[in-house]
Amino acid sequence: MRPPADLVVETDATFRVHASLYTDPALFDAEMDRIFGSAWVYLCHESELPNPGDYRTSVIGRQPVIVSRDQDGEVHVLFNRCMHRGAVVCRADRGHSNYFRCQYHNWVYDSRGALQGMAQPSGYPDDFDRSGLSLVKPPRVGTYRGLIFASLAEDGESLQERLDDVRGYIDAWCDRSPLGRVTLPRGNHRYSYPGNWKLQLENGVDGYHGNYVHESFSQILERSGERRRSDVTRARNEVGGVNSAKGLSHGDGLLERGSGMLGTIDFSQFAGYRERLAQAHGADRVDDILTQRNVLVWPNLFLFESHIRVVRPVSVNETTVDNHPTMLQGAPDEVNTARLREHERFFGPASFGATDDLEIFVHVQTGVQASSAQWLDMSRGMHREEQRDGEIVGHSTDETPQRSMYRAWRRAMARTNREAVA
Ligand code: FES
Ligand SMILES: [Fe+2]
Repeated sequence: MRPPADLVVETDATFRVHASLYTDPALFDAEMDRIFGSAWVYLCHESELPNPGDYRTSVIGRQPVIVSRDQDGEVHVLFNRCMHRGAVVCRADRGHSNYFRCQYHNWVYDSRGALQGMAQPSGYPDDFDRSGLSLVKPPRVGTYRGLIFASLAEDGESLQERLDDVRGYIDAWCDRSPLGRVTLPRGNHRYSYPGNWKLQLENGVDGYHGNYVHESFSQILERSGERRRSDVTRARNEVGGVNSAKGLSHGDGLLERGSGMLGTIDFSQFAGYRERLAQAHGADRVDDILTQRNVLVWPNLFLFESHIRVVRPVSVNETTVDNHPTMLQGAPDEVNTARLREHERFFGPASFGATDDLEIFVHVQTGVQASSAQWLDMSRGMHREEQRDGEIVGHSTDETPQRSMYRAWRRAMARTNREAVA
């Protein structure tokens, strides 16, 4: 494995990423230690476990966890690993139960992770010490506006500090609900692709590919009389106004466009919605709240207008992605209905958008096998992006967010895990 610091190379005018970032299993293992072993990693949303006894399973990198709500309403994150001989104790994605029963030899844990009993207990002495046999918990857990995160690092930035620079965008996303409450009530759509996890991260904030990869979607909009193709292209290429790509600290980034710009929902058509938002959050915030954004919270979470997207690295060339459609509490029913229909149309399993992107991930994963051409170029827009209030702001088609992401990758990968938590 080459030193990671040599694999993301930046000058004043160029930014290059080495192809081995997508293909080298040793680098993937190092990512799991140095990135997912220390970052605040998103697990799930509080609204997915509304009642005592509800649970969700998730992962921190490759490490399986259960997020459970106990009888007192407190949320616990537990490694999904039996303290007897290591089997997962919960196999479902979500559910409701007052205990987790390991399938292998029937050890039983409560929703706080405490060992409640084991099968055929006479095989153990009466004074058998169970104190160290509760399910293990990750060192740190934090929640911000319903988003539950955990960190495998004992020390380091608090979640609040970590989210400092992206907090305003998370708030705007949550405040699309007049009650300030987004919920994930209906499960999720999961897909896997034979490609590296970072391809999904790059793509979710990539405003350059739309006119090409999603050309067929533009054609559909035109055929249905909804929007002219040339208008969609022009809107994507437009310079000025709200049409930017931003790079933040910590590897976060976003794509930002005016509301209703590209065949997405124009909220002005819903009587009363803007008024409800103005009443709840202040009239001066409404335009900002309704700005269309794809927000990447490094290393595994996206906040899209219609959904939360969670990226799960599986191996160097295998990734699983969960899309959870969201509901805006307190918004008119027609708004949530329109958002769900829009989600199905562009992001759902039989959609006209996300499915195109998946095909591209496979093409990239195939292309980077050509090892004689070692580098990928991500320098688009370096000559025109600007620093504004601690953010790097480029045109929406620039690779500004991707560069922020890979700077964070380089920082995390250049240190050992021990240094990362020091
Ligand atoms: S591995 Fe869980 S009870 Fe044996
Ligand atoms: Fe796309």
